[in-house]
Amino acid sequence: MFAPTLAAMSALKMVLFSKHDIPLFCFIKILRVQLLFKHRFYSIWVVPKLHHRTFVIMDSNQFPSNLPSPLQKLPIEGMDLWMKRDDLIHPIISGNKWRKLKGFFREIDRSKTIITFGGAYSNHLPAAALAAKLHEMKIIGIVRGEELNSKSNRFLKYCSEHGMELYFISRSEYRALRERNWQIGDELVQNIPNHPIVLPEGGAGGHTIEGCAEIWHEIKKECSPDHLIISSGTGATVLGILSAMSQNEKTKVHVISAVRGAEHEMNSVCTYAEAKGIAVNWVNESFGGFGKTTPELLEESEKFQSQTGIQLDRNYNAKLWFWLKNHPPQGKVVWLNTGGF
Ligand SMILES: Cc1ncc(COP(=O)(O)O)c(C=O)c1O
Repeated sequence: MFAPTLAAMSALKMVLFSKHDIPLFCFIKILRVQLLFKHRFYSIWVVPKLHHRTFVIMDSNQFPSNLPSPLQKLPIEGMDLWMKRDDLIHPIISGNKWRKLKGFFREIDRSKTIITFGGAYSNHLPAAALAAKLHEMKIIGIVRGEELNSKSNRFLKYCSEHGMELYFISRSEYRALRERNWQIGDELVQNIPNHPIVLPEGGAGGHTIEGCAEIWHEIKKECSPDHLIISSGTGATVLGILSAMSQNEKTKVHVISAVRGAEHEMNSVCTYAEAKGIAVNWVNESFGGFGKTTPELLEESEKFQSQTGIQLDRNYNAKLWFWLKNHPPQGKVVWLNTGGF
């Protein structure tokens, strides 16, 4: 009565992310079995074996599908607008997080503990937590705000669920740490065996230059934009990109700061760009400070999402879009989507 027939065997190749956001490269062998029953064929699909391989994280050569990140034309009327989709590099270590952390983790001694810093809504902390976990390293996160705890929001929850040990300090202590260039006091160091390695706020450091420079090399391979628009916090991403640009590069760089009172960052970016003969337009934060939003900002961000299908992080790229929509430059514009958690 039943006539099972081996009908097809095929292989499917794809990249999946596990529930721990670990990229898995898969070959799935699918077996189709056909059954003949009462003059009709029925098909059953069987997945007998899942072959997978975990990639060595942060090594772009082993992660071929997401890098170089795509350059996508956006359907925005009246603008020749393209988005460099660094947000697609990885679901958690996305955008400039990937670019910045790559160099840090390549050079690091894995027996050490990392100590890093961030605010309650820092994109850097979850990215660093996951990167450390994937490298099987211990990591400590110092968070601004003694009133917070590891359950205060999804950012901090993700960090603690992924093995980051969190300490919460007051805003004044945090400011003092920043002024000391993240040199932690002896009281804390004593509790950490094997002297920890400091990863500054936002993942900044000499290691970021090379990773962020790659963004410009990738863009340049595809086009020579008239304008490049980038959101900025510490300015590390912009500096990395400027470092890769040639002397007197004709692309004008617009930097949309997400942080109020970023004079120091503005000075370092503008001084460096001027020395290279590159035009920079620095735009100050105007929504009340980092993490602050307005109903108009959120509305514009939602409109953008329904128009393009691209979700913007509200701290950086939503503010960038708000500026860009109201100040559309003439010519070919590339917007670097720096991702977000
Ligand atoms: C999504 C996003 N965009 C932009 C930035 C700003 O980057 P940078 O601190 O290098 O200026 C950050 C912070 O690292 C970020 O999380």
